[in-house]
Amino acid sequence: TIIPVILSGGAGTRLWPISREGHPKPFMKLHDQQSLIEKTYRRALAIAHNQSVLTITKRDYYFACKDELNHASDHKANGFFLLEPFGRNTAPAIALAALYVAEQFGENALMLVLASDHLIQNQLEFNQAVQDASALAQQGYLVTFGIKPTAPETGFGYIEAGSAIGAGFKVQRFVEKPSLEIAKQYLAAGNYSWNSGMFCFSATSLLTEMVLHAPDIFNVAKECYQATQACKNTELFVEFDADSFSRFNDVSIDYALMEKSERVAMIQATFDWSDIGSWDAVAGLLPADSNGNRLNGDIAVLNVNDCFIHSSSRVIGAIGLEHLIVVDTPDALLIANRAQLQDVKHIVTRLKSDG
Ligand code: GDD
Ligand code: MG
Repeated sequence: TIIPVILSGGAGTRLWPISREGHPKPFMKLHDQQSLIEKTYRRALAIAHNQSVLTITKRDYYFACKDELNHASDHKANGFFLLEPFGRNTAPAIALAALYVAEQFGENALMLVLASDHLIQNQLEFNQAVQDASALAQQGYLVTFGIKPTAPETGFGYIEAGSAIGAGFKVQRFVEKPSLEIAKQYLAAGNYSWNSGMFCFSATSLLTEMVLHAPDIFNVAKECYQATQACKNTELFVEFDADSFSRFNDVSIDYALMEKSERVAMIQATFDWSDIGSWDAVAGLLPADSNGNRLNGDIAVLNVNDCFIHSSSRVIGAIGLEHLIVVDTPDALLIANRAQLQDVKHIVTRLKSDG
């Protein structure tokens, strides 16, 4: 058995004003009108042969996630939801999901942990990678999926490949979000991959490694799981006990476990992968016109070059512009220089502190 576990949490502020707290990045629809999380569910259902899919998310996003799963499966999927009272990052979420999977499907059941805000288009290559990963997961490894790096990005984890094992590699070293200096060295070294943020392991391997390297998280997870079982829950979801949940530290699985465990392996991805980390990545999904513009909506341009313009509802006219990103929504408008898109998150912080 392999159980897809979909993580749905973070707000994704680099895609403001479409992605926000009440409408975070996983629910952002791409040009084909499918949201990133709907696409994730489709990818997961293809792996799980339309059987069970587990979602762990903030309770506020329960109905939104359920709707997206229904879209992805025409209401046929057997989805179950683990609901957090608030976000405490991915280590607590994954520990709780592992306790649930061990109890429901047996401790040797495999989990395929997927972020809900990534884009992968080559399903066949992805299926093959998951199959290779599950062979290693059955041998007790925590399997990551490595992406060939193209720039010294500091928002990713870096994986140094060691000796070959099965269809992949043992992981020599895992470094989460290094400084730019270090990221440049890794890129130049040539034997590092980006961590895609997807994982495959058995519930028991994950829990065993947690006991060793993140005992605090493991203990709170146990307490929280037990306290939760005492409450009334439904056949569709479990809502975690908020008192014990609030004792979790905010820490990601990458820092809590992947940097520390000696049982980490990697499958090199042969599929395309993007974490849609900026408006540039979204723009790149649209075809460009002869002036390099990518336009989405009812937009007329005159003497405009290398711009991405997105309209949610209004008509837009643009004259004499270059290298700009314009994203219009009914109540907020972003106008930015293409070269400074990583700063969108700072605008969000500033707007929050002003408001
Ligand atoms: N349920 C739940 N609860 N999900 C969460 C929470 C939480 O508290 N926090 C984050 N998530 C979900 C996000 O929605 C996303 O789908 C996934 O977990 C990863 O979280 P991010 O916040 O997007 O992590 P990141 O992008 O900074 O880093 C991770 O992904 C990179 C690749 O995109 C790391 O795994 C890096 O090593 C990796 O390179
Ligand atoms: Mg991310």
